[in-house]
Amino acid sequence: MKKICSVVGARPQFIKLAVVSRVLRKHYHEVLIHTGQHYDHNMSDVFFEEMDIPKPDYNLGVSGGSHGQMTGQMLMKLEEVFLNEKPDMVLLFGDTNSTMAAALAAVKLHIPICHVEAGNRFGTLESPEEVNRTVTDHLSAINLPCTDSSLVFLEKEGLGEKSTVVGDPMYDAFCYYTERLDGSELTEIQDFAGNTVTLPEKFYYMTCHRQENTDTDEKLDGIFSAMEALPYPTVYPVHPRNHNRAERLCNAKGYKNIILTLPVGYKTSISLVNKAEKIVTDSGGVQREAFFAGKPCVTVLDFVVWPETMHDGCNVLAKPNKEDILTKLSREVIFDPAYQPFGDGHSAEKIVKIMKEYLA
Ligand code: UD1
Ligand code: UDP
Repeated sequence: MKKICSVVGARPQFIKLAVVSRVLRKHYHEVLIHTGQHYDHNMSDVFFEEMDIPKPDYNLGVSGGSHGQMTGQMLMKLEEVFLNEKPDMVLLFGDTNSTMAAALAAVKLHIPICHVEAGNRFGTLESPEEVNRTVTDHLSAINLPCTDSSLVFLEKEGLGEKSTVVGDPMYDAFCYYTERLDGSELTEIQDFAGNTVTLPEKFYYMTCHRQENTDTDEKLDGIFSAMEALPYPTVYPVHPRNHNRAERLCNAKGYKNIILTLPVGYKTSISLVNKAEKIVTDSGGVQREAFFAGKPCVTVLDFVVWPETMHDGCNVLAKPNKEDILTKLSREVIFDPAYQPFGDGHSAEKIVKIMKEYLA
């Protein structure tokens, strides 16, 4: 059996891995490498446990520090593992520092790379994820964009011949796990003090973790001031990178309409997506999940990440300030159920089929 090394490190990658690994293991010997980028129980282990992802064969324990420090340490450790394991292919997801480090390590060892969720472009290298995905796309033997618009970017960069649209593994996961929800997921929400919070009947779901929005008080507080002014409370599971800032701002301003919680597991997160009135986020994954669930979404970013979600105004961009977010949230949105740009919920099968054709 041929050997595939799958490399993951961050929360959204565990989710994509969950669905792809299940199919991959029917055909290949998968060696699973966790770089350690996300390491708290509620940022890592909880996904492996509740999504039945096999235990990683390696955890490299690399996290934190500057982008260069993190990427450099991962590169050194991944090279060692690849030399030891001698995989036939390396499987990568998305655009984190773990993805780019693995791509650099593999390509120098002449190991072909399969890149899932290739081809997204903001149009600015100021975004660390743009750097990671552009480099990875150019080093990969196979690029597997989720959507037609991502394929167009790859074609413009001369990568069209090695690229195929397969659909979105986040959609696979959303369909698979939504079908299996039984409602118990929502009892697990805890606030920062560890108290169990009763979920309001009507609420907004917010996630916000990008360095663009969370590295200064001004932007995060602009978003909070909008959420505080809404008719229903906001449930906001906070990423550890801005836990302290979020808590300090909410306390200082006396916000009462924002429920800060620790990060939640995947099943709770998609339950919140499914139950929310509307969604405010800067997450690539959550804005797609809003679209999957037919929930109006406001994305607080300067750049379009997933143009398909913007169809008919289902998702719109907003600046991190009260007026703009409230204006954008007040729109009425009608979803067209016939418009399904993220595939049929079976991208994992297509991903493995293309890998098999390459490795035959
Ligand atoms: C990373 C990805 C981003 C992705 C996000 C998913 C890069 C450049 N960015 O951003 O594309 O959207 O993951 O969530 O790779 N921390 C903890 N505990 C953890 C994880 C992180 O305390 O389990 C803290 C650390 O202080 C760390 C900071 O959060 O320094 C930022 O984490 P990092 O992995 O560098 O970036 P993310 O913001 O998570
Ligand atoms: N998510 C989660 N718990 C949370 C917040 C988000 O499980 O507390 C899920 C969310 O439903 C989506 C994924 O994490 O499936 C998105 O990951 P994230 O926002 O960290 O990264 P991005 O998609 O922006 O790269």
